[in-house]
Amino acid sequence: MELFPSSWLYGILANIVLLVLISIPLVYWKRKGIKGPPTLPFIGNFLHPTRPIPLMQMDNLRQYGHFFGMFRGRQPVLSISDPAIIKRILVQDFHLFHNRMPTTDSNVVLSQNLVSARYDKWKRVRSILTPMFTTSKLRKMEGLMGQCVDSLYQALDRLAKTESSFPVHNVMGNFTMDVIAKCAFATDTDAHNEKENKFVVNARKLLEFNFIRALGTFLVPIFLKNILQTFRIKYFLSPERDFFLNICFQLIKQRKQNTTAKYSDMLELMIKAKHGKDRLMEDDDKFDSYHVNVGDEEKLREEKLLSEIIGSKYLSEEEIVAQSFIFFIAGYETTASTLTFALYELATNPDIQNRLYEEVKAIVDNGEPLDYDHVMKLPYLDAIIAETLRLHSPVLTLNRQVSARYPIPEYNYTMEKDESVFIPIYAIHHNPEFHPNPLRFNPERFMPENRDKIIPYSYLPFGGGPRNCIGMRFAMSEAKLGLARLIKDFIFFKSSKTCDELKIKNGLFLLKTTPVWINNNNNNEQQQFCSK
Ligand code: HEM
Repeated sequence: MELFPSSWLYGILANIVLLVLISIPLVYWKRKGIKGPPTLPFIGNFLHPTRPIPLMQMDNLRQYGHFFGMFRGRQPVLSISDPAIIKRILVQDFHLFHNRMPTTDSNVVLSQNLVSARYDKWKRVRSILTPMFTTSKLRKMEGLMGQCVDSLYQALDRLAKTESSFPVHNVMGNFTMDVIAKCAFATDTDAHNEKENKFVVNARKLLEFNFIRALGTFLVPIFLKNILQTFRIKYFLSPERDFFLNICFQLIKQRKQNTTAKYSDMLELMIKAKHGKDRLMEDDDKFDSYHVNVGDEEKLREEKLLSEIIGSKYLSEEEIVAQSFIFFIAGYETTASTLTFALYELATNPDIQNRLYEEVKAIVDNGEPLDYDHVMKLPYLDAIIAETLRLHSPVLTLNRQVSARYPIPEYNYTMEKDESVFIPIYAIHHNPEFHPNPLRFNPERFMPENRDKIIPYSYLPFGGGPRNCIGMRFAMSEAKLGLARLIKDFIFFKSSKTCDELKIKNGLFLLKTTPVWINNNNNNEQQQFCSK
């Protein structure tokens, strides 16, 4: 007779494996003498069902300081919010911090996108794409953006006439959807009016936050995802994603067949892009490069890094599709949130709104148009957007993975190869050590005369170093052209539905809050509201 039936043995073994899996996170940082918050088995320190990430970041900063250990799923990560070390990681020692943490996207086409690409693949694609986002190239897209600003204006005009209050994110989301669909997918969405438009419906589904999918991102390894997809398990399929990939492949095919038609969108720029053909940076880019922490030192390093040729000088069809997709994912929600929070702050701070109005009106009074050249360099408008991005940073965290052992002497710690770093943007932006009175919306901080008081690498809405947000200038032009045009004619103010304090909700990578509602009136038609 068996002393222990085999099912018992399997049970005991399974329990031992489970115990080891659970206890690794409990001892990993302790063994290295690094403090950190308690960890949930398998989930780690992210995705707490009741404590949204931004609030957790601030709790942890208060309790554990600028340097501590935590877990993403079962992966150990260091949280670093010391600006001097952040600069080393993002810029000076970039050769060791090329990569983000590996993603678990198993789609062969999409894994070539700029956010996920690694090592030389990233460098090649980035060096071909960077010239697409210089001032002179963005000016070419002004016409396309202008059409979307017109639709936004009309939508707000209708709301001013018919509603006592409107949910700002819906309207701004429609605007940024129109812009990115036009510029990256050559598609007219008319999102303000056509709610059933296939593009709009698929896009919204794709970007919905789903707790189970989010858990899957951390916990399920690629090989398992592939198997689950083969068996068509719902949570591991994405028909919405396939919809966008198909559109993009079809468009490239059409463009290659019809070479006489002229386009001025991103897709065309990518099809024509060639390494070394255009400048990586232009003198005009200087004005807003502080948003990505680029000064002379960073500029030189970036130019040196990206001027090297590796492999093909052109993007392949799959690479172009992957980039269109990531531009959409990275650009739609982030810019919509920025505009939403900016309008919330303007509605709740009438003095600031008035000063912005005066700045914009001065251009119009001078007989000049509110176009790219006149709007992009308005200092107060720029400062309002910067302060919005500080106080309500849409992206919560930056991450990098180290490719060799790396000492951090200040904290008497050496990172192991492949260990990762998280940079908690939200907590850094709300830390009074760096931004006095951090909860106050105060655009003055970012006026040119005050900017040198900001500690370098303590303002990181678009990240920093050669892997910063490539779409920063695109997002800025979209936001500035939109806001300038609206503020010229509309007055925004609080309604009975406007929250005095926005409550933060659970989201995975991006800031989510309770809905923002405000009211607006057309200044030209409603003279009784004309406090301007
Ligand atoms: C207000 C709007 C936006 C915000 C706040 C934002 C923020 C960010 C941040 C924080 C990063 C990570 C940077 C780092 O790791 O150092 C990033 C990367 C990126 N963003 Fe944006 N972004 C915005 C708009 C856009 C737009 C409009 C596009 C495209 C048109 C875009 C495309 C990308 C891409 C492709 C990357 C990856 C760059 C690389 O790894 O080389 N973003 N963005």
